[in-house]
Amino acid sequence: MPNVCPADYQFLQALLYKQAGLVLDAAKEYLVEARLGPLAKKLGMESIDALVLAAKNRSAPDLEQKIVEAMTIHESSFFRDWKPFEALRQKVIPDLIKARENTRKLYFWSAASSTGQEAYSIAMQVREHFPQLSNWTITIIGTDVSASVVAQARAGAYSQLEVNRGMPARLLTKYMRSEGANWVVRDDIRKMVDFRQMNLIRPWPFLPRMDVVFLRNVLIYFDAGTKRTIFSHVKEISAPDSYLFLGAAESTLGLTEEFVKDPAEGATWYRQKNRGEVTL
Ligand SMILES: C[S@@+](CC[C@H](N)C(=O)[O-])C[C@H]1O[C@@H](n2cnc3c(N)ncnc32)[C@H](O)[C@@H]1O
Repeated sequence: MPNVCPADYQFLQALLYKQAGLVLDAAKEYLVEARLGPLAKKLGMESIDALVLAAKNRSAPDLEQKIVEAMTIHESSFFRDWKPFEALRQKVIPDLIKARENTRKLYFWSAASSTGQEAYSIAMQVREHFPQLSNWTITIIGTDVSASVVAQARAGAYSQLEVNRGMPARLLTKYMRSEGANWVVRDDIRKMVDFRQMNLIRPWPFLPRMDVVFLRNVLIYFDAGTKRTIFSHVKEISAPDSYLFLGAAESTLGLTEEFVKDPAEGATWYRQKNRGEVTL
């Protein structure tokens, strides 16, 4: 028997949607129990019912944010899906180097950066393959709605298990150092990335005009209306000749015509439909 009554389940659905745009499908009681049971225990509450009641009564500080954090999937890994990082090396960064030779500035954004592996993988790819960028201004921004993952990302410390998932051995010893049971991103790579808290469904703060946007494995949790709004913001804040990467299970299909899959490449990135000439 599920431990969450229908009214509490609806309350949680509304809370997640209002706070982060997240759609909690029907019949995900198991997820609620798996995630909120431990949270209730941690906060000294005797059950999920008590936790939900406290959220309804607003009787515990930051409880809504804590529930959203507990219910969110933060799964990430270094060089996840590999191909986007290979595309950065082979095509995207070389093309942008030509296009930006006057300004000598490049802007990358890992939207929904979770614990930071994606943004650090971009930084390592830049450092590893493009020594000619050493005197360019390279800005890599990682943002996430969750304060706790932003803090973890800033610390840049990962368990052996986390680095085993995707980090090539050669890059591990070159760009990370072992510290106790963890591996920590070296300072020069850490300083290349600026992690900030940002909610994709609230008004966006100022962001520099992006050349490369990684918006991966977060759209799947949103409904169509939220995805459309996010795509239109991405278009506004990115350069006309920018590159957009989505997760393997995500696409623009039926959501926006502003971005098209780059047909010439048959690849996994999207470009703005009306790119025209870029003036910088
Ligand atoms: C599955 S992780 C994806 C991490 C990384 N992009 C990757 O592909 O490995 C999804 C992240 O989206 C974040 N997220 C969920 N809703 C969000 C929102 N409304 N605004 C910003 N980030 C959000 C979560 O906190 C979580 O860290």
